Amino acid sequence: MLMQPSVPPSLEKDAMAILNARCASCHNSSNPKGDIGFITDINSLKYYRLIVPGEPQLSPLYEVIAKGEMPPSGPLAQAQVQIIYDWIFEGMLTDQTGVTPPVGVTGVLEAKFQSIFVNIIQPKCLGCHNNASANGLDLSNYTKVMTTIAPNDPLRSAFYDSVIKGRMPKGRAMLSASELTAVRDWITNGALNN
Ligand code: HEC
Ligand code: HEC
Repeated sequence: MLMQPSVPPSLEKDAMAILNARCASCHNSSNPKGDIGFITDINSLKYYRLIVPGEPQLSPLYEVIAKGEMPPSGPLAQAQVQIIYDWIFEGMLTDQTGVTPPVGVTGVLEAKFQSIFVNIIQPKCLGCHNNASANGLDLSNYTKVMTTIAPNDPLRSAFYDSVIKGRMPKGRAMLSASELTAVRDWITNGALNN
């Protein structure tokens, strides 16, 4: 078996120090701004795809820092932005191992409408897409969800496009890899009311 090189401890330590000092006050479990309550938990950052190991440019955590959107009080120093970049790029390039569902994520997610509705749409979409506050799109039942779906064709389904590209849930953590897979497989299998 190949040994995976581990993340250089100094990069990880420096990155954690920045996240602790500048982000954790608004992104911890008792104050989860934008539904992100785990900014110093590397496993959760990967699971919810705020970090794509080896790909800082595809990592929302890096993107908001690089654009100066986070922290809201003003951008990090360039040297700190560089540390986060190096940590995600060099430090994690070969580190794809050991990503497990964080504590609190339970239940089996199936590629079926009921499972997707209960585990993804209800908790993560209906806050903004119910019949009262639809934001132009009501996702409160199967028929309405189907207005965003091209059966058998996830890439032509507005629902899938919005979550795979991270536009939705708006301003929140992206769906996890297993959630995206369930949605994609459900659509590929005909998007049945099952
Ligand atoms: C003073 C509070 C505060 C601090 C400090 C803070 N955030 Fe945020 N963050 C928020 C709020 C509020 C949101 C919800 C979205 C919004 O209103 O812009 C958010 C949203 C986010 C998002 C999701 C945004 C999106 O568009 O998907 C990410 C990622 C994020 N923060 C990362 C960070 C990082 C990394 C840091 C530290 C460098 C940080 N935040 C520091 C308050 C904060
Ligand atoms: C915090 C509020 C919020 C949440 C949560 C949210 N949306 Fe949205 N959504 C919006 C708003 C506002 C718009 C209108 C267009 C825009 O502002 O981007 C929108 C538009 C859309 C659109 C059409 C435009 C596009 O970008 O494709 C789709 C599809 C969509 N949402 C799907 C979803 C799905 C699926 C979820 C849950 C996984 C979700 N949304 C969660 C606020 C939200």
